[in-house]
Amino acid sequence: MSASSTASVSDTIARPTITAVERQVRALCERHAARLPFHGWHHVSFVRDKAAEFAAGNGSDVAVVETAALVHDVNYLVRRNSTAAAGSGLRLSILAAAGVGPEVAHWIDAIVDEAEMRTRHRDITLESQALSDADTLFKALPVTPVVLAHRYLAENGVSLRELADKIVGEQRDPHDEGFYFYSPAAAAAYSRWATANLTLWQCIQESLDDPTVERLLTAVA
Ligand SMILES: [Fe+2]
Repeated sequence: MSASSTASVSDTIARPTITAVERQVRALCERHAARLPFHGWHHVSFVRDKAAEFAAGNGSDVAVVETAALVHDVNYLVRRNSTAAAGSGLRLSILAAAGVGPEVAHWIDAIVDEAEMRTRHRDITLESQALSDADTLFKALPVTPVVLAHRYLAENGVSLRELADKIVGEQRDPHDEGFYFYSPAAAAAYSRWATANLTLWQCIQESLDDPTVERLLTAVA
């Protein structure tokens, strides 16, 4: 569904329905916390809060964006190291159980798909932009590589090199082409962090090409 067609279904998610979605997602995150050291409730609630803020700023449907944020990473409950699409079935069942109608639920599923870092582009809808900015900000936070990156490695069973390749591979073009953040306010506030984060991961890639560094990492692993 395009941003221009959202008027017909906007504001159709009542607060108690969002709360019902939140309750389910939080319960799942807490039950499976050991499998979600990176994408657990701390991540979901951060993205929800920031996505609502960015949605209010860009004039998109705050309730829809907030709900999309709550269910955006349920794919990690379905399959380790998976794409958003892997969570579509669980996402739609959570939304249905909370009383979100099928039209809005499929809209939310499409927003989540469109906001995915791996494939997002300059012209995604406003709702996807708000979700993307919140999720991207989490990646770009200066604290993320320091206190959370090792959790991503453990959660998804990937090596440091694989994570560095993923981050640089997915983020360099949006950064260099000017749509790392869609919100001008987010870009103004956080682009310095984004650039520093990307530079750090590029340096990590370079360092891993040094066999002595590789021996060091093998020794501490
Ligand atoms: Fe996320």
